[in-house]
Amino acid sequence: MPAAKRVRKGRFITFEGGEGAGKSTQVKRLVEALAARKIETVATREPGGSPNAEELRKALLAGLVAPLGPAAEAMIFSAARIDHLDALIKPALARGAYVVCDRFADSTRAYQGALGKLSEDFIDGLERVTVGDAMPDLTFMLDLPAEDGLARAGARRGNGTVDRFEAEKLDFHLALRDAFKTIAARNPQRCVVIDASRSADDVAADVWRAVETRLLGQKASS
Ligand SMILES: Nc1ncnc2c1ncn2[C@@H]1O[C@H](COP(=O)(O)OP(=O)(O)O)[C@@H](O)[C@H]1O
Ligand SMILES: [Mg+2]
Repeated sequence: MPAAKRVRKGRFITFEGGEGAGKSTQVKRLVEALAARKIETVATREPGGSPNAEELRKALLAGLVAPLGPAAEAMIFSAARIDHLDALIKPALARGAYVVCDRFADSTRAYQGALGKLSEDFIDGLERVTVGDAMPDLTFMLDLPAEDGLARAGARRGNGTVDRFEAEKLDFHLALRDAFKTIAARNPQRCVVIDASRSADDVAADVWRAVETRLLGQKASS
């Protein structure tokens, strides 16, 4: 039985990339730019973004799920994503808002899929049942050398403790960068790779240009 086609009046934008790439910084900048245009915008993040998913975030980032292996970890990220989509993202898009999300399904594909050595079939299937046709309209891959991102994340953290993924070795972060680039190369209609080693202003200018040309110029589709 075909489900009624969901009407997406708003636009869904995600930021992806390694630790310290500048995702949170750029989410904030883009939300400000959209607000200046009087466009209703919802800023959110993964894992988390809804009360239930934020509970799962705590367990994931504390490393409580890691001992169960990458398949289980991918499933818990996906469980959080289902709630986030249902409670926040889909209702916002249906009423015509822009949703700007800090990490989304590509992070599961890169971290648990590529790095956890899960099969593409597994990740494809999980993404299909979790996200379905709610994939982003536009994804920014913030790209910079892994060492630079880790140095930024380290400076941001100060004396705080590292989370489950920041604690991984440099090799992990080098492979992560490749994994995001591969996703971008395979999805050129959705993904824009941005050189994130430049100033936050330069990065924000590229992001805004892409939003203007790819989204603001278009009419909402159903
Ligand atoms: N383009 C940039 N150049 C230099 N430092 C940056 C840039 N963008 C962000 N930062 C800083 O680097 C740190 C990590 O940025 P953040 O946006 O938190 O990254 P992410 O969310 O991708 O981990 C923060 O302290 C932030 O202020
Ligand atoms: Mg961040």
